[in-house]
Amino acid sequence: MSSLKPSEIVKELDKYIIGQNKAKRSVAIALRNRWRRQQVPEELRDEIAPKNIILIGPTGVGKTEIARRLSMLTDSPFNKVEASKFTEVGYVGRDVESMVRDIVELTVNKVKSKEQKAAIPKAEQITEERMLDLLLPPVLHSKKKKENQNLEDEAEEELDEAEEELDEAEEELDEAEEELDEAAVQEQEKDSPTRAKLRKMLREGKLDKRYVDLDVSEQNMPVIEVFSNAGLEEMGINFKDMLGGMMPKNSKRRKVKVPEAMKLISQEESQNLVDFDKVVKQAIERVEQSGIIFLDEIDKIAGKDGSHGPDISREGVQRDLLPIVEGSTVTTKYGPVQSDHILFIASGAFHAIKPSDLIPELQGRFPIRVELDSLARKEFVRILTEPKNALLLQYVALMKTEGLDVIFEDPAVDEIAKIAEEVNSRTENIGARRLHTLMECLLEDILFEAPDMDTKKISIDVKYVREKFKDIKNDDDLSRYIL
Ligand SMILES: Nc1ncnc2c1ncn2[C@@H]1O[C@H](COP(=O)(O)OP(=O)(O)OP(=O)(O)O)[C@@H](O)[C@H]1O
Ligand SMILES: [Mg+2]
Repeated sequence: MSSLKPSEIVKELDKYIIGQNKAKRSVAIALRNRWRRQQVPEELRDEIAPKNIILIGPTGVGKTEIARRLSMLTDSPFNKVEASKFTEVGYVGRDVESMVRDIVELTVNKVKSKEQKAAIPKAEQITEERMLDLLLPPVLHSKKKKENQNLEDEAEEELDEAEEELDEAEEELDEAEEELDEAAVQEQEKDSPTRAKLRKMLREGKLDKRYVDLDVSEQNMPVIEVFSNAGLEEMGINFKDMLGGMMPKNSKRRKVKVPEAMKLISQEESQNLVDFDKVVKQAIERVEQSGIIFLDEIDKIAGKDGSHGPDISREGVQRDLLPIVEGSTVTTKYGPVQSDHILFIASGAFHAIKPSDLIPELQGRFPIRVELDSLARKEFVRILTEPKNALLLQYVALMKTEGLDVIFEDPAVDEIAKIAEEVNSRTENIGARRLHTLMECLLEDILFEAPDMDTKKISIDVKYVREKFKDIKNDDDLSRYIL
């Protein structure tokens, strides 16, 4: 489990997210608390419930982004769900418990592929042996056996002789046995001179053009694709898995080139080496002890019912959510999973409704409320340039592929930020997302013409920015459509 200190977590988040220090601090504390809980004596450990968080802030200020980066930072099981999807019309099948099932599924896959990776060296060893078995002409095998047989016969003859002359006999017997042992050992180690030679050739890639016959196992179940999992989902039953297990595994003999055969064999072997029961046990343990579920758009399930037509009752969704957040046992196809210690981080814009519009029981389960700041010109400049994945860096890298160096002059960046702020205040405040639309519009010509340009270098200056947006930004209607 991640043992990053809160300050280190914030530092990592700083690489991608500008500002929002309060939010960064509280998620960092929550994450560290998971680790702290693990160090507490066991009797007390079960008593310590996670302090769930609600991130509150207008759209486009980094709520989802914080969650996304957090998930990359920790290796805790992490799942992000949109709370709103539980209220969607005609989507009754999707029940709230599915978010726990999904995080288990994700974690099982993650643990499995990690174990498989760990098994690669061992699998490669086995693969090489299996490959040599395939490559070694069977004739050689039988010849070898014959040789052994001859040796044995000889030894026996000698034994007969030895019986006649007792003194000599013992000596010769020893010798013969020794010889026999040697032959057996050689056979066991499978390093006959031919095999050793082949092994060398195999490792040097000299056999890459050769073909071998390989039994490739394949499951063909064309029927299954017709069915969906609808309805069965609640039971945590996966139809495909179920039928897949019942179908006999077909194996088909194919002629494949050595390198491909090696890959196929090694895949099969690394799968065989992984103990799936152990994987499941570990995955469930990790979900229960350190899982994080990010509940995006939680405000969409708050508020008065009935105001939006035939929606599924939002309060109903909240009531469904409650036991999971409070801690209950969810049945999954891998077995029961306790949700008591899963950390929930919720987020929402909450502009028309407040957290107090959530049902009281649920409010109590989210004791930490953090407000995110809305973003202005100063932050926009930083968002454009500072993060590791900054928007400007992305465009520069894209244009570089056309052999074009694009340079953004500082005053131009400031101008873009200024326009973003202006448009946000005059039309709708969509936060940093405005920068995305602005940049597309700004660079449209260059993005289109880049491959045909003779110049190798373009500087974007204030003039270019102003010129580009001159007509649009002063026309509210136009900016509504374009920016
Ligand atoms: N503080 C920030 N620092 C860096 N980039 C940001 C920041 N805020 C937003 N962005 C950028 O803006 C985009 C939208 O942000 P995000 O998805 O986090 O919005 P949100 O707060 O979840 O909004 P919504 O309530 O609409 O879901 C992201 O692609 C992100 O790169
Ligand atoms: Mg979001």
